[in-house]
Amino acid sequence: MIDTNTYTFIATAAAGLEGVTKRELLHLGFEDAKAELGGVRFTATWPEAFRACLWLSTADRVLWVAAEGECRSFEELFQLAKAAPWSDVLPRDAAMPVSGRCARSQLMSVRDCQAITKKALVEHMRSAYHTATLPETGPRYQVDVALHGDVARLTVDLCGDALNRRGYRTWNGEAPLRETAAAALVRLSGWRGDTPLHDPCCGTGTLLIEAAFYAAHRAPGLTRAFDMEKWPRVDANALRDIREDARRQYDPGLIPPISGSDIDPEALKLAQRHIRQAGLEGKIKVFQKDLRDLQLDGENLTFLTNPPYGERLGDRKQCESLYKAMKPLMARHPGCRLNVITSHPGFERVAGMKAFKKTRLYNGRLECAFMRF
Ligand SMILES: C[S@@+](CC[C@H](N)C(=O)[O-])C[C@H]1O[C@@H](n2cnc3c(N)ncnc32)[C@H](O)[C@@H]1O
Repeated sequence: MIDTNTYTFIATAAAGLEGVTKRELLHLGFEDAKAELGGVRFTATWPEAFRACLWLSTADRVLWVAAEGECRSFEELFQLAKAAPWSDVLPRDAAMPVSGRCARSQLMSVRDCQAITKKALVEHMRSAYHTATLPETGPRYQVDVALHGDVARLTVDLCGDALNRRGYRTWNGEAPLRETAAAALVRLSGWRGDTPLHDPCCGTGTLLIEAAFYAAHRAPGLTRAFDMEKWPRVDANALRDIREDARRQYDPGLIPPISGSDIDPEALKLAQRHIRQAGLEGKIKVFQKDLRDLQLDGENLTFLTNPPYGERLGDRKQCESLYKAMKPLMARHPGCRLNVITSHPGFERVAGMKAFKKTRLYNGRLECAFMRF
């Protein structure tokens, strides 16, 4: 039986990126999108939620919120989990692994929270399907129990692999930027996707690929699979139509000149491989060059880059000397804009420039500033 009801979902996002993810959801037509710590809440039918999975570039996952409520005891958690409408969504043979997290809550044992949630879920399913056994041989419904303070949230993941796994990055260089963070920087940079863009420390090419996807209206999840595509109550034809529509919208002809350079030939080999795997061969040019010697032709240029941060003690001097080269780089390219992310608190002082806009966000565990000059 196909389910046409609407449900509550959360698109999870890294700290500092919730606002960008909310703007993406609003742009996709989810008018009730509301940002909260660590994500954005919205309501949708299953096919609409699939559209969010396919198109969101800055979110980590899309989760169905099965239940939420205050839980100060394991009994309260058990009752909350048992009452959740699992059987409206999960078939009798659903595989139901349960993961868990606790932060500042009275129920501190993650293992116990997982075990209790699983027990309640199994009891619910047995009673709903009038059966003593649940084979768990069917499609996967990854359940998560998250306690934050004394509020428990029970969710099911629609995605499978996290959304940053677009399918093009198979090998990580040193300190690569997550695809979702790179997509957020493209959006925060103010670049509109129709003028030349260059990354002078391009590493494995993540920023360049995400910029090209943005310019070409390419859904980030276009060529990957999602767990929910195997769920029997979801309208498979509707999902196929949504993917087909995304395929039609992708237009590589819209990509303006996008290029990258790096001092490290090994990183450039990886960049080339990722560009090929993203289907963007011939659309993005990369070459070896020290940023200090970089000279590009053309006007209206946007530099977007994730340079080394000098986190390790010995590296700081070297990275600061690179920061000092950024102002001359701008001077050599009149009219250009520069966008930089770094965890180095003294970037502006070292570079001798003041950003006109700064956004705080996390790159992995590192608190960073994204600065626009
Ligand atoms: C943090 S990594 C960039 C990671 C990249 N965003 C990615 O996703 O793979 C910094 C890059 O700056 C490059 N780099 C360091 N010094 C450089 C210089 N003087 N000129 C150009 N590139 C440089 C390094 O080789 C490295 O690939």
